[in-house]
Amino acid sequence: MKMIAVLSKKGGVGKTLLSMGLAQTLTAQGKHAVVIDHDPEGSAIGWRFNAEENGRELPYQVLAPVDVVAAAAAEYVVVDTPPNDIGTLQQVATRADYIVIPVLPGSGEIDRLQETMRAIAAVQERLKAGVHIGFVLNRMEHNNLAAAMPEVMDNLNYPVIAQIGRSVDYQRAFGSVVPQHLTTPFTQILEEFEIL
Ligand SMILES: Nc1ncnc2c1ncn2[C@@H]1O[C@H](COP(=O)(O)OP(=O)(O)O)[C@@H](O)[C@H]1O
Ligand SMILES: [Mg+2]
Repeated sequence: MKMIAVLSKKGGVGKTLLSMGLAQTLTAQGKHAVVIDHDPEGSAIGWRFNAEENGRELPYQVLAPVDVVAAAAAEYVVVDTPPNDIGTLQQVATRADYIVIPVLPGSGEIDRLQETMRAIAAVQERLKAGVHIGFVLNRMEHNNLAAAMPEVMDNLNYPVIAQIGRSVDYQRAFGSVVPQHLTTPFTQILEEFEIL
């Protein structure tokens, strides 16, 4: 079992969207993938409930952290994490084989990202050997601020492995599968990690 952790101390950056999108994409590629919802707010589990209520069951399981048996049977476990919970962030980071960190465009966002990076640096020696860490720019728009982000990230030595555009269709994907034409960034992340 390989663990993909989606982490950020900041809320609203797209952790849950990325977790669901990655599990969906892995599943579409024939991998046995599940999501573990580590957020007490339960937005990933809420996503699943919403899907079931609407008769559109998701093609992958969304589990609570206690469902260790079901998770152990999966090839890939994607862990969605809560905001503002350094303890959980660090605990999940040290168990991960791959870490995905979503970032929004904006200078204030970089400051917030540094908080996440300090939390990870504090457990650096406990990270798995060879852990892959990739950054994903989310809610990208066609403006100068967004256009400057990849270079800013590069200069900080934070490799951007994919970009996700801002689209109301991502918002509407809650409680459903992400429309096929919006899944390219998830595939890109998995290819960058050499999972696909
Ligand atoms: N690329 C995007 N375009 C439009 N809305 C987005 C995008 N990514 C996330 N959102 C929306 O932003 C909100 C926060 O995303 P979410 O994945 O729940 O973040 P987190 O789990 O980090 O709190 C949700 O309403 C989600 O639908
Ligand atoms: Mg979330």
